[in-house]
Amino acid sequence: MKKVYIETYGCQMNEYDTEIVRAVLQQANYQIVEQESEAEIIMLNTCSVRDNANRKVFNRIHTIGHSRNGDPLLIGVLGCMATNFRKHLLEDRELKLDFVVGPDSYKRLPALIREVESSGESAYDVTLSEFEDYSDVYPNRKGGINAWIAVMRGCNNFCTFCVVPYTRGRERSRSPRSITAEVRKLVEEGFKQVTLLGQNVNSYNYQGKDFAHLLEEVSKVRSVDRIRFTSPHPKDFPHRLLHVVAENPRVCKHIHLPLQAGNSRILDKMNRTYSKEEYLALVDDIRKHHAAMVITTDIIVGFPTETDTEFEDTVDVIQKVEFDSAFIFKYSPRKGTIAHRRYADDVPEEKKKQRIIRLNELQNSISLKKNRAHIGEVQRVLIEQESTRKSPDDYQGRNDGNKIVIFPGGDYRRGDYVDVEICDATPHVLKGRVVPQSS
Ligand code: SAH
Ligand code: SF4
Ligand code: F3S
Repeated sequence: MKKVYIETYGCQMNEYDTEIVRAVLQQANYQIVEQESEAEIIMLNTCSVRDNANRKVFNRIHTIGHSRNGDPLLIGVLGCMATNFRKHLLEDRELKLDFVVGPDSYKRLPALIREVESSGESAYDVTLSEFEDYSDVYPNRKGGINAWIAVMRGCNNFCTFCVVPYTRGRERSRSPRSITAEVRKLVEEGFKQVTLLGQNVNSYNYQGKDFAHLLEEVSKVRSVDRIRFTSPHPKDFPHRLLHVVAENPRVCKHIHLPLQAGNSRILDKMNRTYSKEEYLALVDDIRKHHAAMVITTDIIVGFPTETDTEFEDTVDVIQKVEFDSAFIFKYSPRKGTIAHRRYADDVPEEKKKQRIIRLNELQNSISLKKNRAHIGEVQRVLIEQESTRKSPDDYQGRNDGNKIVIFPGGDYRRGDYVDVEICDATPHVLKGRVVPQSS
């Protein structure tokens, strides 16, 4: 049994894909190991979304190459860099890669590895499929509280800055029946929460069955306590979906709603297909359905031609919406994307830096204010860890809105629900103490 070590970069979809890869390999009699030093085959499941994600992986390949010392070790690249950088990865002899395999070709991994072993030549498969949804592979999850499950793959949106439609191909959705069957199974295995994943999860459409339908079907599975989903696109939020999210007690009250930019001209150039006003109206609508909905977002600063005045629209949206938290990125030009072909990366680095600092400061103060508003509330928390890195006597879990809650440990275990009275808050966590269960 050959030993394989897999390292995962990037988003939750990649985490999930690694679980698929583990399952495929185990079925083919490979052994998955957690220590790099034990490995005979190393796989990097990579991300290509921003330049620093790429650079990290290239550095990693070089370090592995150096430490390899003539060992008969096989090294392969999987994931979004495989499709995006296939030529570079295969042609750069310095990298000494043995195989390069894209996100739709993981079932072929065992065959490709055998090919490398018998020929001594590198092998690759980066074909993108319109159909592959891995519904016939039951992922090998590491265990824990949350189970990812990809309900759709790929993206048809072609936001002009984004490489994902090229790295992961066209949208395809998995059947509700296969999804609910898998949810039933993983709940039996002890998972408490499922997170439905898609590059564009609310574009889910299986023979006319939309995402609202899927959420309802999944929520009917007995003992699935918490259902989350990520990431939805603001363009796909029909009222029916809002109703399901707001009213179904098993669907968590958290919506990650990527804004990207606050200015309508920039949004148009990004091909996001909504305006500032439409985004704000959607947030109003969400809050009309459920006033306490936790809303988080992604923002890009310094998209080509974004002026100081236009950037102020992003500031304005942040102030108006008051997101619970936000991931803020500097625009990173990606080869092959529409923005890269059409526009120069003309916002100076220093300006991008200033903008990101300004938004992070603003968002931190809003996050703190919003978190402090929870002080005094009693919240149901699902325990994820029986100790935290910073203070080993504390436990850590999440509330329904996906916020991290820290509290002193006691006679409970990972996977238990506890009621926690919130006593303190920082921009990133709530702190509290366990009180007797209310129901
Ligand atoms: N499908 C998801 C996005 C996946 S990428 C969605 O539409 O929400 C995650 C985030 O990375 C994006 O929301 C965007 O904010 C950021 N991102 C994507 N491409 C980028 C680029 N070229 N430069 C900087 N940030 C980028
Ligand atoms: Fe990228 Fe846009 Fe698709 Fe998200 S919706 S993956 S940002 S192209
Ligand atoms: Fe990265 Fe691919 Fe996810 S580019 S963010 S790993 S879809």
